[in-house]
Amino acid sequence: MARKLVCVCNFITEKEILATIAEGARDLEDIKLMTGAGTSCGKCHAAINSLLAGAAVKREPDVQRRLF
Ligand code: FES
Repeated sequence: MARKLVCVCNFITEKEILATIAEGARDLEDIKLMTGAGTSCGKCHAAINSLLAGAAVKREPDVQRRLF
């Protein structure tokens, strides 16, 4: 199975970021501190934020109702 790199600069995969979110990371700063992803060029910030948002929706299914 291919590893999907999210942060090319620091070789951090989507799987690693999702695992970090499952461990309690709640925002980009948490991901930076816990994995090192996003700490170089910053081009991966949007992808990391997208993974964080997707996990938040799964964690709190009614979040969409509150936002919209
Ligand atoms: S791709 Fe993540 S910091 Fe450059």
